[in-house]
Amino acid sequence: MKNNRRDFLKNISLAGLGLTGAGKLTDSFLSGIREPFQQTHRQRFNMHDYSAPALETVRIGFIGVGSRGSGHVRRYARIEGVEIKALCDTIPGRVTGTIDRLEGGLHYPDAYHGSEDEWKKVCDRDDIDLIIISTPWDQHAEQAIYAMEQGKHVGVEVPVALTIEDCWKLVETSEQTRKHCMMLANSAYGDFNILTISMARQGFFGDIVHGEGAYIHDRVSGSNRWRRDPENANWFGYRPWRLDANVGRNGNLYPTHGLGSICQVMNLNYGDQMDYLISLSGDDFTMGDKMKELAAEDDYYNSYVGKSFRGNMNVSVIRTHNGRTIMLQHDISSPRPNVRYNLISGTKAIARQSPPPARFATGHGGWLSQDEADLLTEKYKPEISKRVGEISSEIGGHGGVDTMMAWRMIDCLRNGIPLDMDVYDAALWSSIIPLSEWSVANRSNSVSVPDFTTGAWKTNEPNMDIELKRGGSTRILSLR
Ligand SMILES: NC(=O)c1ccc[n+]([C@@H]2O[C@H](COP(=O)([O-])OP(=O)(O)OC[C@H]3O[C@@H](n4cnc5c(N)ncnc54)[C@H](O)[C@@H]3O)[C@@H](O)[C@H]2O)c1
Repeated sequence: MKNNRRDFLKNISLAGLGLTGAGKLTDSFLSGIREPFQQTHRQRFNMHDYSAPALETVRIGFIGVGSRGSGHVRRYARIEGVEIKALCDTIPGRVTGTIDRLEGGLHYPDAYHGSEDEWKKVCDRDDIDLIIISTPWDQHAEQAIYAMEQGKHVGVEVPVALTIEDCWKLVETSEQTRKHCMMLANSAYGDFNILTISMARQGFFGDIVHGEGAYIHDRVSGSNRWRRDPENANWFGYRPWRLDANVGRNGNLYPTHGLGSICQVMNLNYGDQMDYLISLSGDDFTMGDKMKELAAEDDYYNSYVGKSFRGNMNVSVIRTHNGRTIMLQHDISSPRPNVRYNLISGTKAIARQSPPPARFATGHGGWLSQDEADLLTEKYKPEISKRVGEISSEIGGHGGVDTMMAWRMIDCLRNGIPLDMDVYDAALWSSIIPLSEWSVANRSNSVSVPDFTTGAWKTNEPNMDIELKRGGSTRILSLR
């Protein structure tokens, strides 16, 4: 009798935990926590390594010319073979101001403003090849999908989408229309990033074991970023949509910068693939108080007082099918210096970007000296840095990174070769947002990362041609 009672209690507790004999988790219990996003997609056409017909001139329409978009216009204007045809923004002064600042008399774009849907007219034109989208996050997917459906290639600011459903729609539309959908993940072109991609490809790190990336960018303390300026609608500092994005949500809301080179170094989508993720957020310690402080000066902020804000720090950890690990951090509301904190660790060596200068080590004995680091940087410098690094820095945009990215995109389109990043990269990197939110909302339980290549990652070859084996023939027009 005693034994039966013990067995009965054991069975109850195991069933409650989703366990069967020998501590094995039941399939239904596992699927309950690990598969909230069902995968039904079948690849129609593999957009990885896809070459669209070459375009001698790339005619561009820009949607959203705020802080980021107006910078894109200025940089794309300096690339050979570009014709800027149209600028669109809901705020008229941003369109006219950006047109006024175009130098050299090379471009005479048409201005579109007036309504929230004006951007569709830009996509509908038949004399435009490429649409560059720099609007608030929640508009990216709709605008990119519509543009591709109208036969345009798209370059979309980070992130490309906020939901798994939209990530799939983007993949399906790109495959169906055979139009490029490149997320403008400039971080992939950072000095440290392309250097570590080069080092990884030449075996410096051995097998890649682990990567870390972060978006830590204080937007609350000591800055006026959340303070609106109703007098000056053209002022780029205040972005109400970016404040709103932090309300009622919790997770890693900006993972793409941190993933910049990690995904390329680990060949995720082409040789390896993310398997599952867990994500943990703490509480908000600063944004709620900041809203009370702002509300004391401006009634506009009353509606934000008492709202639930994203926790200061989010940490997400990802495991890949080949057994590697990635740690991502996100914090935009603690008083800390800005840092992206990229780190690549392998079986033979490690590289760390922050705090600067970038450091390298090949064992537990400590970091290599600055002279040794300089020698490595020279030895592994990729061809893209040698060819356009200097002139990109002259034109600028995060120290030239943005110009390099714009140049390479246009160069690939003009040469009819694959772009460095495709729709699968855009979808995978962006999917961390909803996946981390799901995990945070479910006590950090693990969640499977969808495979947007639907298995093609096993045979896809790495992209991001940093050695410029193809193309590289387009010029950047110097400011001098
Ligand atoms: N990669 C980077 O380093 C980097 C840096 C900054 C911003 N960004 C990204 O760029 C995007 C834009 O950010 P931002 O800082 O320029 O914001 P912003 O608010 O300065 O610019 C967005 C612009 O879009 C316009 N807009 C809004 N709805 C529109 C519509 N329906 N049609 C046309 N225009 C519309 C707004 O009026 C505004 O001018 C975001 O995705 C952001 O994350 C990336």
